[in-house]
Amino acid sequence: MSPNSFISFTVTVLLSLTILLANPESQESSEPDTPVTRFQNYLRIKTAHPNPDYASAVSYLNSQAQSIGLQSRTFQFTPNKPLLLLTWPGSDPTLPSLLLNSHLDSVPAEPSKWAHPPFAAHRTPGGDIFARGAQDDKCIAIQYLEAIRNLKASNFNPIRTVHVSYVPDEEIGGMDGAAKFAVSEEFKELKVGFVLDEGQANPGDEFRVFYADRTPWNLIVKAKGMPGHGSRMFDNSAMENLMKSIELMTRFRETQFDEVKAGNAVNSEVISVNPVYLKSGIVSGDGFAMNMQPSEAEAGFNIRIPPTVDPDLVKKRIAEEWAPEARNLTYQLIENGPTRDYMGRPLMTPTDDSNPWWSVFKQAIAAAGGKLAKPEILASTTDARFMRQQGIPTLGFSPMTNTPILLHEHDEFLKDTIFLKGIKIYESIISALSSFEGGTQ
Ligand SMILES: *[C@@H]1O[C@H](CO)[C@@H](O)[C@H](O)[C@H]1NC(C)=O
Ligand SMILES: [Zn+2]
Repeated sequence: MSPNSFISFTVTVLLSLTILLANPESQESSEPDTPVTRFQNYLRIKTAHPNPDYASAVSYLNSQAQSIGLQSRTFQFTPNKPLLLLTWPGSDPTLPSLLLNSHLDSVPAEPSKWAHPPFAAHRTPGGDIFARGAQDDKCIAIQYLEAIRNLKASNFNPIRTVHVSYVPDEEIGGMDGAAKFAVSEEFKELKVGFVLDEGQANPGDEFRVFYADRTPWNLIVKAKGMPGHGSRMFDNSAMENLMKSIELMTRFRETQFDEVKAGNAVNSEVISVNPVYLKSGIVSGDGFAMNMQPSEAEAGFNIRIPPTVDPDLVKKRIAEEWAPEARNLTYQLIENGPTRDYMGRPLMTPTDDSNPWWSVFKQAIAAAGGKLAKPEILASTTDARFMRQQGIPTLGFSPMTNTPILLHEHDEFLKDTIFLKGIKIYESIISALSSFEGGTQ
């Protein structure tokens, strides 16, 4: 190396160092290690579908668990779909345990539509952390751990055992994740008495809590009929028979939606019936043959059933009114998940004094200075349904107040102060729930 090239080499190294130090995101070792940076690092793992990097997420969470001193196990109920279970043993293992659940995966993001790259976890000067998964649901994944870290540091010892589970595939239905976990021997051995799973943000200043999900059904209605010339009027064409169904379903949809519009119910408390596709016509060239009435027609509907409704009555309505054989219709009903628990009860967790966990949970929020909103039914679904199916009381809860609801949307973000306040809320909840002894089993 000549003296000149040595100088130029040194300058280059110094310049690179300066650039690295000025940009904390490009060099992790120079980054402070705090709850917020640990949250950011978890957000940077690309766990979005269709190719979620489960291995990196599990390895990261495992390293956190080790630094806190939690026991750790990884299950593969489905190959390449790991499920991480962390355990903080309680002093009385005979008592039912507490389970804190979150999912590892996220929905995809379209980077070009975001103000900040969805996997950079950029933190604005105002403290907003932008990332896919910031609200749904990587916040709670880290908050659980940070709360336990703080409780351990304060020498708190739980009486009940506390488990933390990280499950794959929630965003694609959970069938290879929480569904298999909840019916496994390994799960039974945990003797879970109460579960906390994800909830949703609130633009207001109360914490939302969910005691049930709606069950999603897909309904496909197919019609067959005599084909005919486009000019002819005749009865019972495939189109006519299908359109009659659409008419009846639309009318039913209106009765439900009117309740919402009149303020008698919120969206998640009624049955939603939304048409999602229509398929028919005889393809010809770039379009359709306009002088032919087709012999087949099909429509698809997304239906959501709240737990307050008897699903058998909806099935009866489908068979007799919406897709009856008498109108030459056939249908396929795909039920994506349970509507009843193993005892045949609706999948609802009581939020009154009949559920001793509820009272403790409610008091713990108040003790941390939080206000709880009126318990709600979630309009969509989460893995909580698989736990409720086992008869285990389960609440959906993500401590995000004063935050716009951005799950699955562009520019999903969570403010650092809200994230940090959530840790305090969980400290209160975990310490209360893990140290209450009476009232249950
Ligand atoms: C159903 O199909 C049968 C046989 O093609 C036909 O005779 C009948 O009129 C059809 N009924 C309706 C309601 O479409
Ligand atoms: Zn989620």
